[in-house]
Amino acid sequence: MTRRLAAGCRLPSTRQLATRIGVSRTSVLSAYEQLLAEGYVTGQAGSGTFVAEDAAPSMQLAPTAQAAARANPALSRIGQRYARFASGLELPPNLPFAAGCCSIDAQSIEALRRTGMEVMQNFDPAALHYGDPSGQSALRDEVAKYLRVARAVRCEPEQVLILSGAQQAIDLTIRVLLDPGDAVWIEDPGYLPTREALSTLGARLVPVPVDRDGLDVEAGRRAAPGARAVYITPSHQYPTGAVMSIQRRLELLDWANAAGAWIVEDDYDSEFRYVGRPLASLQGLDRGETVIYVGTLSKMLFPGARLGFAVVPPSLVDVFRGARFLTDRHPSTLQQAVVSGFMRRGFLTSHVQRMRQRYRLARNAVVEAIERQMGDLVEVEVPEVGIQLTMHFRGAVDDVAVAAEAARRGLVVKAVSPHYIAAPPRSGLVLGFSGFDEHRLRTAVAELARATRAVIARAAPPQLSA
Ligand SMILES: Cc1ncc(COP(=O)(O)O)c(C=O)c1O
Repeated sequence: MTRRLAAGCRLPSTRQLATRIGVSRTSVLSAYEQLLAEGYVTGQAGSGTFVAEDAAPSMQLAPTAQAAARANPALSRIGQRYARFASGLELPPNLPFAAGCCSIDAQSIEALRRTGMEVMQNFDPAALHYGDPSGQSALRDEVAKYLRVARAVRCEPEQVLILSGAQQAIDLTIRVLLDPGDAVWIEDPGYLPTREALSTLGARLVPVPVDRDGLDVEAGRRAAPGARAVYITPSHQYPTGAVMSIQRRLELLDWANAAGAWIVEDDYDSEFRYVGRPLASLQGLDRGETVIYVGTLSKMLFPGARLGFAVVPPSLVDVFRGARFLTDRHPSTLQQAVVSGFMRRGFLTSHVQRMRQRYRLARNAVVEAIERQMGDLVEVEVPEVGIQLTMHFRGAVDDVAVAAEAARRGLVVKAVSPHYIAAPPRSGLVLGFSGFDEHRLRTAVAELARATRAVIARAAPPQLSA
């Protein structure tokens, strides 16, 4: 007995099963009778047959030797990396200050519901078939229109690929442009999922320090002048929050053009800018077709949407289409139709405008609460853009221990120090503020202050009494 059917599960009727597996009904009837006689199923003619609640456990079959060997399968080199990554993989709960939580108000939910109903009512049968690996042209048009206006991205819809998020854009980029051992500049500190994806697929990571102006291009030139690519978050460096200066942007483009390197620009949360005018995307400044621009709905709308996009130079469109096809063919047609309808009706733009107001208040509330409750312990980098902030401890505090203590108290914060590779690590925390109301955020800051003080007290040497 393999227990693949749970107790109480209804078996198909003898007639259905006989038709499905192509044997006579008499054979099925006698098999059911045997199961009934041995106590594996219960039931009477007419009322259905069910898996017995108390089917004898002693009948459970031991796994075969082959099955036991499969419990520890030999994996490919890449498989071993995936397994190691999975062992530390945690899905953060929706608690303050999880960066994956975004707000969505009743207006946007209603807009999504209405758009979804219209899509279903006017369902285009063409959407039942396999679709374009680049994504539906209606959605690519909307994304191109949006990016030209909002991010000064220079693109035609043919250059847009609809993807399942920034992570897929990064994965496909590595597959189509890098060979194992190729050098890639990455920000130090930087975004861990990109670092993992690059090293899993065999790239040689070249950590390049980041300062207040973003990636230090000169340091990158010294470390690996002939690198194949650079991955960068210029509008809101993760995790320091730095915005890359225009001089550095131009320097980076100069280097990439001269070296024949690719720039992967991850523009993950630049929509939420609270002061001044946004700096143009790197892609918009580029005249050399060196930038692969990556955007996502994860922050703009919500991460469960699993929808993002890349804008690639015309010479790369075909190779990306091929890679997308062989990975998972194309994005869901139904989901694309809903999102393109949502964008065409202007709902995404108005959602972003409303959320920008909301997130600005959330940011201000968190900054003000941190300064009041733990200003003696930390320095806050007030973000001009984005939906998370970084604060650094003034003294030597173990940020990993604080994150663990905060988790025990129902908070999700990320320690900064594990994001460093070669640069001297700073100790701090990253706090997402987009998914919670101001009251909840203030209460959470108070708890975080208590968690931090508890860790500091534990680490302090015991006081000698006089
Ligand atoms: C730097 C960075 N890039 C991209 C993303 C979003 O990735 P995805 O679109 O795969 O959800 C995040 C989310 O936290 C991020 O921090």
